[in-house]
Amino acid sequence: MATTLDTAPIYQTDALIAEDIDAYLESHQHKSLLRFITCGSVDDGKSTLIGRLLYDSKMIFEDQLAALEADSKRVGTQGQEIDFALLVDGLAAEREQGITIDVAYRFFTTEKRKFIVADTPGHEQYTRNMVTGASTADLAVILIDARKGVLTQTRRHSFLAHLIGIRNIVLAVNKMDLVDYSQKVFDDIVADYRIFADSIGIQAFTAMPISGFKGDNITALSPNTPWYQGKPLIQHLEEVEVDNIADQAKPFRMAVQWVNRPNLDFRGFSGQIASGVIKPGDVVRVLPSGKTSTVSRIVTLDGDLAEAVAGQSVTICLADEIDCSRGDVLAIADHPPQVADQFEASIVWMSDEHLIPGRPYWLKLGTQMVSATIQPPKYQVNVNTMEHLAARTLELNGIGVAVVSTDKPIVFEPYDQSRTLGGFILIDRMTNATVAAGMLHFSLRRAQNVHWQALDVSREAHAVMKNQTPAVLWFTGLSGAGKSTIANLVEKKLHALGKHTFLLDGDNVRHGLNKDLGFTETDRIENIRRVGEVARLMADAGLIVLSAFISPFRAERDMVRHMMPDGEFIEVHIDTPLAEAEKRDVKGLYKKARAGELKNFTGIDSPYEAPENPEIRIDTTKLSPEDAAELIVERLLA
Ligand code: ADX
Repeated sequence: MATTLDTAPIYQTDALIAEDIDAYLESHQHKSLLRFITCGSVDDGKSTLIGRLLYDSKMIFEDQLAALEADSKRVGTQGQEIDFALLVDGLAAEREQGITIDVAYRFFTTEKRKFIVADTPGHEQYTRNMVTGASTADLAVILIDARKGVLTQTRRHSFLAHLIGIRNIVLAVNKMDLVDYSQKVFDDIVADYRIFADSIGIQAFTAMPISGFKGDNITALSPNTPWYQGKPLIQHLEEVEVDNIADQAKPFRMAVQWVNRPNLDFRGFSGQIASGVIKPGDVVRVLPSGKTSTVSRIVTLDGDLAEAVAGQSVTICLADEIDCSRGDVLAIADHPPQVADQFEASIVWMSDEHLIPGRPYWLKLGTQMVSATIQPPKYQVNVNTMEHLAARTLELNGIGVAVVSTDKPIVFEPYDQSRTLGGFILIDRMTNATVAAGMLHFSLRRAQNVHWQALDVSREAHAVMKNQTPAVLWFTGLSGAGKSTIANLVEKKLHALGKHTFLLDGDNVRHGLNKDLGFTETDRIENIRRVGEVARLMADAGLIVLSAFISPFRAERDMVRHMMPDGEFIEVHIDTPLAEAEKRDVKGLYKKARAGELKNFTGIDSPYEAPENPEIRIDTTKLSPEDAAELIVERLLA
């Protein structure tokens, strides 16, 4: 079934290419770009629709053609005959092969616009793929099979598209040919969808009756649906207003990607303008510091600009030498974004490893990168019913709302006002994998109202008075490894040397400050976080702190390390093999754990992550506690 391509606009393009390739390329370059996502499954006719868009616009890119060509010699090159059915089969096969990897991006273009369509699998287990595809999209085409109407997946796709901030929704009621182009079927589906859309806050959507297979209402209005008053799909995609234009109306913001300083005479801040318009002479504010200056030049590779707008990449020079570095945000001075360190956010979990509340993750928001912890979710959303469910964590593809705290204030805007300054990802600190995507809702009041109190008697003053350098000796190791025994000996020796010390011991702290905590992963993390904070306060008071906790996870030991000034955190691994600790079994706990009477016991059914580069490692099978303590004191005082 070979079909000839016969749509008028394309012949004009062909003629232009033939006549004047330069003029063609020029017009092509200045076309705007629409990124969109198609949501639906193969059953809804998604591959057919994408095939139709590529086919009717005829601008199939070379690589796709090559792939198709491998399938059949009948597939031609641009301008020749292309078999529609083959094209669709090719797309479906490609989709199936790539289904678990990520998102397939396809490119096509018409005379008016360039398009990138993100094609993601529609099933619930691929929620993270859909979120990835949607995160850069300006528009979502939600496909509905006219015979089936609004389904669970329609609701899920719409919810995700809305959550990720897509404001242009096209409800494409497909397979109209199979319902005799019935206006009643179409109207009923639209009415149904409107009720749902209202319930989740989708303010507007554009509904169209189409047939991807027959081509109705794709490039031209179909005679089969005389009752349809709207535009054909491609025309709608060509004419819909994209965010770029809306972004220009917002206040100026640009995240600084890097500081451009080739020599002493030039210093500029490079980045892509997220929103607004900027001109030389405008007063800008650098955030989070809040310092202001005036724009002196806007530099690009093509020379200086009199004005730059959202979407452009530029280098901005300021009249004053004020502090500004990568991760800072330049904003128009009288309308700056907010700065805060505690937020409510929606979080989409994308990793096989579930969210661990309290664990530090890297949070990347634009060019800003900070350490952040997530509290247990306020609720999780059932993406099929939109119900709010209680949850202690988020699993793969789980979506919830939770409080996020960062270790430093960040510059942000609510996600519904700015995808650039409101959208973030979370990164696992150990594996560097992206584990979640998030959308900031608002900052918490308490973040705005709790300020650091400047203290007159400083940390240094406390230490000088004690005539010592504060430090935290952080003992880690299995239960029964000998942490408390050795730490106790070290403290005695330091005390004898006139040092001011304090020993925090797991078993003791768990009777007081942390008596509300057990031994689940979450509780152990909270245990270490609190002990870390206490150790920091004690070091601020000038003490040498010794802490003896199993502290089984690298991430939290690392977190405490970063709470302390460089060099003041000394990790001491009391390295006793499990078999040895179990043989000693001083408290009889290993026996209980083996008998199944004690759950989550470290080394048995709960992990211990040994330090990779501890400052001190003690092999207790070789050193006596006395010798170990001697060695640690020597190392500390050296
Ligand atoms: S940590 O993992 O959160 O750092 P912590 O050092 O405070 O643990 O407490 C460990 C001590 O609690 C052990 O030495 C042991 O006496 C006792 N304990 C009771 N239950 C457990 C358990 N399930 N796992 C490990 N230790 C336990």
